[in-house]
Amino acid sequence: MSDQYLNLPISPADTAFGLMAEYDADPHPNKVSLIAGAYRNEDGRPWVLPSVQEAKARLTPNQHHEYLDIAGSPGLIKLAQSLTFSSEIATALDKSIASIQTVSGTGANHMAAHFLAQHLRPSRVFIPSPTWINHKTIWATTGISIEEYPYYDPTTRAVNITGMLSALETANPHDVVILQACAHNPTGIDLSQTQWRRVAAVMKRKNLFAMFDSAYQGFATGDVDGDAWAVRYFVKQLILDGEPDHPGLCVAQSFSKNFGLYGERVGALHLVVPRHLSAEGARSELIARARAEYSNPPHFGASIVETVLGDEGLRAQWLRDLETMSVRIKEMRQELRKRLEDNGTPGDWSHIESQIGMFSYTGLDREQVARLKEEFHIYLLPSGRASICGLNEGNIEYVARAVGLVVGLGHD
Ligand SMILES: Cc1ncc(COP(=O)(O)O)c(C=O)c1O
Repeated sequence: MSDQYLNLPISPADTAFGLMAEYDADPHPNKVSLIAGAYRNEDGRPWVLPSVQEAKARLTPNQHHEYLDIAGSPGLIKLAQSLTFSSEIATALDKSIASIQTVSGTGANHMAAHFLAQHLRPSRVFIPSPTWINHKTIWATTGISIEEYPYYDPTTRAVNITGMLSALETANPHDVVILQACAHNPTGIDLSQTQWRRVAAVMKRKNLFAMFDSAYQGFATGDVDGDAWAVRYFVKQLILDGEPDHPGLCVAQSFSKNFGLYGERVGALHLVVPRHLSAEGARSELIARARAEYSNPPHFGASIVETVLGDEGLRAQWLRDLETMSVRIKEMRQELRKRLEDNGTPGDWSHIESQIGMFSYTGLDREQVARLKEEFHIYLLPSGRASICGLNEGNIEYVARAVGLVVGLGHD
């Protein structure tokens, strides 16, 4: 019994990271990676945002490597709160909000899951079907029962709002509902404002805890306020105009995508309780957890985000950088759709253009995805999720033709 750990079975590799390793090892000259949730520029390379580059240049001469506070940089946390909630709402929430810097969005999700499992004690956590793969993995470590709610309807290629609302009607008070704030991963399909309002009404009436995962603010549309609409609407409904016995909500915020700081691990967790309550106790508990898990969050990336958001000129440059990324992605969507249609590829490809954010749920099945890899060295996730960032002028026609061939073009 005691030496079982010496002979543990090998866990399956993470699908996305496993595929990336296969891609790296593939010597084919025309290989294309549509795997990673990381932006690539028109040359297919990682892009250091000009705002980030400038912040680094300003920081480097004076940058020390001391520990941050356990809760992270107070300056960054304030800026992160305003970015998420707007400064008016953040001020209105005052002591009802507990925020700490986290090890990026994943760390924020993990911290929230364990905190809520212990203190809110939901009977279930509701996660979208499908969703970012790590939601299930993280919540599985808490022991809380996981329930998938219908999110995507493959026949209509739209949100299954009826199924989603019916599932939420079965929830018990204080159950946790994971909601992606914008640019839903993996489908690229978000709720409309009318649909968000319906979800908020059910969650308010049933006293459910909304846990927003915000990994793409500004990246989705280029508009940081527009991408935060749902979060701010829920705060107004459930907290500012909410009932005193409402359990509250939280936001797991990532700066990986919107700052291109994937490896620096910058993020924050914001826990909001009803306005008449103080979140000070919750904050002290989050700090105690952080101390036990990693002591202090990473410093360098946090300094970059703080420098950019705290400086008017750099912030304006950052907004332009977001525009650059979101516009390039939109152009690649239009171009892929156009080429698929111009090539006479069977099927309706309008969804490639109408979906938003980094990913497209292409509708390709597992067999077609496998053929793309085996025959054409084009890599995407088995679910048919393609990262649109991997497309550029140099490979888009090759990809469009290959997709045409695997969906049956020229075979009938
Ligand atoms: C929906 C969603 N949440 C959270 C994350 C976390 O990313 P990170 O840990 O790099 O901030 C991702 C990354 O792909 C994501 O897609």
